[in-house]
Amino acid sequence: LHKDGNRWRWVNKPLGIDDTFTFLDESTLPYGPMEYITRQTQGDFAVLDQRDDNLWMDAGMVTTQADWSLDFDIGMNFFEWHAPVPKANEMGIFVRALKFLLNIQQGQPARRLNWTMTVNPLLDTSPENYHKWGTMKQELTKENIGEKQHLRVELQTFFRLPRSNALVFPIRCYLIRFEDLVTVPKWARRLHRVIRDLPEELATYKGFIDNRPLMVEYLSQFDDGSPTSDGIWADD
Ligand code: HEM
Repeated sequence: LHKDGNRWRWVNKPLGIDDTFTFLDESTLPYGPMEYITRQTQGDFAVLDQRDDNLWMDAGMVTTQADWSLDFDIGMNFFEWHAPVPKANEMGIFVRALKFLLNIQQGQPARRLNWTMTVNPLLDTSPENYHKWGTMKQELTKENIGEKQHLRVELQTFFRLPRSNALVFPIRCYLIRFEDLVTVPKWARRLHRVIRDLPEELATYKGFIDNRPLMVEYLSQFDDGSPTSDGIWADD
């Protein structure tokens, strides 16, 4: 990005883009500013406006959502869009999380990880496309589970925007198939225990309650009962 007063030039070499525009004058860009830049990025973005001591999902560019719908959630506040999540509300987690987010300062972004399960390496598991991916969950067998079943981890970050005071919330999604994951003994042991012991409401919410027995059977082969150390790093 080259800035010359309000005359800005944006060069994106991999995509062959070289645009010159006037900062704050939308008419000089081919799309609105958020659409313009998020079309050139990977992952999803939500913009949360902050008002009435709450966050409101006012805009988004989303192509890889894990069973939630931007169209459905647009205009909702922090508690409304989290309403389908079991347990967390009763535990007071969302009140605390919101308090934390409302206090995020410019230049001090934060991050969290979220996880779920996906059959086949699919990024778009939106409700709108459920007819395409929902049935794939029934194709899991003892023979193909190592290849087909994936742990999906989302890296979610929170940035305060300097002009609007809104939060921008990018989500990057990573998938690893079970047979790759179990090559790290610590990960295999831990995933086995987490999947085995997860409360039923959460396994249902995350969409793998029917396949849980198959997953536990597969993963148990790689759990020798040894303790696991804290954190994500492999022990060996
Ligand atoms: C402002 C940024 C955030 C946005 C836009 C956001 C959005 C979402 C959405 C759309 C869902 C799916 C709900 C559904 O099933 O329809 C979700 C789930 C969830 N969110 Fe957030 N969230 C945000 C921040 C947070 C924070 C800070 C926490 C920390 C506790 C959190 C915890 C969760 C949990 C635990 C789930 C359930 C996920 C699962 O078990 O798979 N979220 N979030």
